[in-house]
Amino acid sequence: MKQAKLMVLAAALTVTAVALAADTGLPKLAKKATYKVGFAQTESNNPWRIAQTQSMQDEAKKLGWQLVYTDAQGSAAKQVADVRSMIAQKVDAIFLSPREEKPLAPVILEAKKAGIPVFLIDRNVDQSLAKAGNDYVTFIGSNFIQEGQRVGQWIAKKTNGKANIIELEGTTGSSPANDRKKGFDDVIAKNPGMKILASQTGDFSRDKGRQVMETLLQAHPEVDVVYAHNDEMAIGAIAALEAAGRKPGKDVLVLSIDGGREAVQLVVDGKIAYVVECNPKFGPKAYSTLKDYAAGKKINAKIINPDREFHSANAAKLLPSAY
Ligand code: AHR
Repeated sequence: MKQAKLMVLAAALTVTAVALAADTGLPKLAKKATYKVGFAQTESNNPWRIAQTQSMQDEAKKLGWQLVYTDAQGSAAKQVADVRSMIAQKVDAIFLSPREEKPLAPVILEAKKAGIPVFLIDRNVDQSLAKAGNDYVTFIGSNFIQEGQRVGQWIAKKTNGKANIIELEGTTGSSPANDRKKGFDDVIAKNPGMKILASQTGDFSRDKGRQVMETLLQAHPEVDVVYAHNDEMAIGAIAALEAAGRKPGKDVLVLSIDGGREAVQLVVDGKIAYVVECNPKFGPKAYSTLKDYAAGKKINAKIINPDREFHSANAAKLLPSAY
């Protein structure tokens, strides 16, 4: 009788332990020869996004995996719907580049509940809403705060800490825009002679960057530095500066982040002063991380890509290796 009671108690404890593991643990992924994976892209309106998608598609093809690809066309709501459709299609795992930090967090929890592991590539989500290593496997991407700091430090060094800056921010609410601003602000706080005259979003887009720069240039003709959160907006800003008779690289220093071929060529041409790289070729690392996860290896909650930099002394040499 006593033994029977003990057995019931042991069984109850086991059930509780399993339930707890299921509550807090990440979904498991079986080790297989091929996978059906989803990649939820945020938009496809610039060379960076196109290069990222190409890399994810090329690597899937190389491995013989099935890739369910969606393009949210710049809409967080569509991206949420895209991820839900991947859950409904029962993909093995989801790769997500979340457009913004907050709206995409709940759907990560939905995937977790459905038993589908999520890997964030390139952009992150608000950690108070969904946590790396707990709600999704990992974040693979650049250190955006450090990118902003590197741009700020370069300006501080080249201008002896005296600059009148226009900042073109990326997509409002996205992790690269938030963190590239934060990193830059860290440096501004230590350099009272570096003033941000205006900081406005250009939505990571060339045309919006040009339009915003046109307006801000009229309000702040004393600008001598433009910090664009990506190449596309920097290229748009250069067009606006030149249309206004200003000389990028001479009377206005332009700095950006990404390191696409066109921007690196502009460094060679002397129109962009400095670019911090943010490499979009995620395919090999994304899929090898998935394989490691399926093999039961420990995956760090953050996997940070190393970023190079481009300036007048190395741009010509590095140009062929820019994406
Ligand atoms: O998330 C990375 C950023 O998004 C890149 O800097 C930008 O070009 C892209 O749209």
